[in-house]
Amino acid sequence: MPGKILPIALMGENVLNSPALEVQDIASPEIQQLIQDMRATMRSEQAAGIAAPQVFAPWRIFIFQVPATSSNPKYQLTPQHDPEGVPETVIINPTFTPLSDQMYEDWEGCLSVPGLLGRVERYYSIKYTGFSPDGEIIEREAHGFHARVFQHEFDHIDGQIFPFKIKQLQGNFGYKEVFFPTIN
Ligand code: NI
Repeated sequence: MPGKILPIALMGENVLNSPALEVQDIASPEIQQLIQDMRATMRSEQAAGIAAPQVFAPWRIFIFQVPATSSNPKYQLTPQHDPEGVPETVIINPTFTPLSDQMYEDWEGCLSVPGLLGRVERYYSIKYTGFSPDGEIIEREAHGFHARVFQHEFDHIDGQIFPFKIKQLQGNFGYKEVFFPTIN
């Protein structure tokens, strides 16, 4: 079942502003095909994550990964907590709880907000659960960038995108080429 590259919903689309629906039948051909298409789309965009609403599919599904190493400041927390990275993970009907009150702010970008970056506060450590495409339970703890990517994608299935969460826009929101001119 090869995946096809889907169009990306850009900031302003209703599908990005509405809570997504619980998946009732993970094994259904429609859901399995959507997952393949999301994988293909995420790879083609070289993204750290993608959520179903970003491809106009209002389901509580997302995919993310943590790169093993990177010089990109966005990923500076990777080596500390996940030196080998976190493999591409598809999660369905996820939930999460913070493991402490500790928050931290860092840069985020999004396929639905191309070219722009913003500084967003997230929980530093979380525990999350959900289901794999095979219906297996996923249960993990995540820290730093891993926790950040998860919370960013989780926001998408609740109708939130990162610009809505920037506490003070001035100085904390703008074009990637301005803040990080050497990173493409
Ligand atoms: Ni995003």
